[in-house]
Amino acid sequence: MTSDTPARRRARVFSRRRGAPSRVRRRLGAAVRMLAALALAGGVYTAFTPGAFAEDNTQLSTAAQQGKELFDTSCITCHGRDGQGVEGRGPSLIGVGSASVEFQVGTGRMPMTRQEAQAEQKKPQFNDDETDQIAQYVQEIGGGPEIPEGSLTDDLETDPDSLARGGELFRVNCTSCHGFGGGGGALSSGKFAPSLSDATAEQIYAAMLTGPQNMPVFGDNQLTPDQKRQIITYIKTQIQDDRDPGGVFNLGRYGPSTEGMAIFLVGITILVFTSLWIAGKS
Ligand code: HEC
Ligand code: HEC
Repeated sequence: MTSDTPARRRARVFSRRRGAPSRVRRRLGAAVRMLAALALAGGVYTAFTPGAFAEDNTQLSTAAQQGKELFDTSCITCHGRDGQGVEGRGPSLIGVGSASVEFQVGTGRMPMTRQEAQAEQKKPQFNDDETDQIAQYVQEIGGGPEIPEGSLTDDLETDPDSLARGGELFRVNCTSCHGFGGGGGALSSGKFAPSLSDATAEQIYAAMLTGPQNMPVFGDNQLTPDQKRQIITYIKTQIQDDRDPGGVFNLGRYGPSTEGMAIFLVGITILVFTSLWIAGKS
C-alpha cells in the first residue's frame, strides 16, 4: 500500500467527482429510453384500439356524424361514449344495428326518461330524418341488423295467398303475446305486449328483427324476410285497417271466448223471453 500523499488524495477526489456525473448521465439515459419505449407503446396502443377509430369522426359518413351529435346530446348519459353502455343505466348499443334504433326511437321508447320495467311509448322526440341519422351512426360504430330497403308490403296486399300465409304465421308466432286481434296483453313483472294497432311496417319489421324486451328475436332463420313481409301485410290489412263489425259495440277483440259468451248471453235471453211469451199466450 502506498502512502497517501495530498496529491493522490486530490487526484482521487477529482476522479470521484468526474465519475459522479457520468453515473447520473447513465441513469438519465436509461430513464429517457424507458420513457421513449413507454410513449411508443402507448402511441401504438391508442392507434390500434377501436375507441380511437370511433372517436375519429372522419371515418363516419355525413349522416352518421349528424347522428353522433344527436346521440351525444340525448343518449350518451345512459348509453355512454360511442354507445359503449353505462353500468346500471343503459346497455351497450354495439351490434344492435340500425333496426333497433329505428324501433326504439321511432316508437318514442327512446330516449327513455326514467328507469322502469319497460320503456314507455311516448310521442317520438325525433323526426324521421333524425331517427335515420342516429340509426346510421349506431350502425356504423357497431354493425347489426338492418331493415331492408324498399317496400315491406305493397306487392303483397292484393295477393290472397300471402295474406293467408301471413295470418297463419301471425297466429303461430305472435298471438300468444299480442292476442288474436293484435290487441296486446299482460306479461309477467309489470311487462306487457303492446297493441299492434299503431305500428308502422318498418316498426313491425324492426320489432321482429331485434326482439325488444321480452319479445323473442325472429331472425331470418326463424322467419324469412318474405314471411316477415307476409305477417306485416296481414297486420296492416286485417288488424289495423279492419274496422270492428260491431262499430262502437266491439267485444274488445279478445277472441272466440268473448264472442261465444256474448252469443250465449244474448241467445239465452231471447230464448227465455220467447218461452215466457209463448207460456203467457196459452
Ligand atoms: C335514461 C336512460 C336512457 C336514455 C336517455 C336513452 N336510453 Fe336507450 N335504453 C335504456 C335502457 C335502460 C335500455 C334497455 C331497456 C329497454 O329496452 O327497455 C335501452 C335500450 C335501448 C335500445 C335497445 C338496445 C337493444 O338491445 O336492442 C336502443 C337501440 C336504444 N336504447 C337507443 C337509444 C337512443 C338512440 C337514445 C337517444 C335518443 C337512448 N336510447 C336514450 C336507457 C336509456
Ligand atoms: C313472448 C311474447 C311476444 C311474442 C311471441 C311476440 N311479441 Fe311483439 N312484443 C312483445 C313485447 C313485450 C313488446 C314490447 C317491447 C317493448 O316495449 O320494448 C312487443 C312489441 C312489439 C311491437 C311494437 C308495437 C308498438 O307499437 O310499439 C310490434 C310491432 C310487435 N311486437 C310485433 C310482433 C310480431 C309481428 C310478432 C310475431 C312474429 C310478435 N311481436 C311476437 C312480446 C312478444
